[in-house]
Amino acid sequence: MKGILICGGTGSRLRPLTEITNKSLLPVYDKPLLLYPLQTLLDAGITDIAVISGTEHIDQVAQFLGSGERFGCTFSFKVQEKAGGIAQALGLAEEFVDGDDVCAILGDNVYFDDLSKEISGFKGGAHVFLKHVTDPERFGVAVVQGNTITSIEEKPTKPKGDLAVTGCYVYDHRCFDVIRNLMPSSRGEYEITDVSHWYMEKGELTATILKDEWIDAGTFESLFQAAALVRERRRS
Ligand code: G1P
Repeated sequence: MKGILICGGTGSRLRPLTEITNKSLLPVYDKPLLLYPLQTLLDAGITDIAVISGTEHIDQVAQFLGSGERFGCTFSFKVQEKAGGIAQALGLAEEFVDGDDVCAILGDNVYFDDLSKEISGFKGGAHVFLKHVTDPERFGVAVVQGNTITSIEEKPTKPKGDLAVTGCYVYDHRCFDVIRNLMPSSRGEYEITDVSHWYMEKGELTATILKDEWIDAGTFESLFQAAALVRERRRS
């Protein structure tokens, strides 16, 4: 399985910090944010990883990560010309993935659960990780029956439940055919939720509900919470 670390987006909610650098390089306690999702990929035994970022900060991201030698993996870098969404970013990695399965993780998502069993045990279709939240309208929202997803919507104004779709997606190689045929959403982005939706319609979208904390560190408040939580766990 190949890994994709998606460090795109403009980070508009974190300005002016993101005028200096990419959101994923901002500090979360004692490490740059992207090292947390990178560790999630490494823990699952993934060592071949494409890192995707925009033109503004790809140089800083590549300078920091390097070849991957010090993390025990190999990095390839891809530039996403414009912030066209997560699905577009993943689509840029089609050649790199070369027919394999793929695990795409967002550079601003911090997981406290161990996802390695689900990722390394993946057997085709699609698998996502869900979390009960109090503000589901901020996220992709899913409804499950057993471990199969029966509804998935991107940032619904009237969520059908409280399960947020978090930023780690495991797909088989068919995701690239789906991405090639996507249309942009009303916010002008190629939505990863539309990719998952395609698998859902085939009854092939399964999910794990996270037990521990999960943070999308895309706002000042959540970035701060992530740092506080990492610090607390490090000291306990
Ligand atoms: C993206 C996805 C959304 C998901 C979230 C997780 O949202 O579109 O479905 O719940 O990541 O972090 P965005 O960060 O683009 O607002």
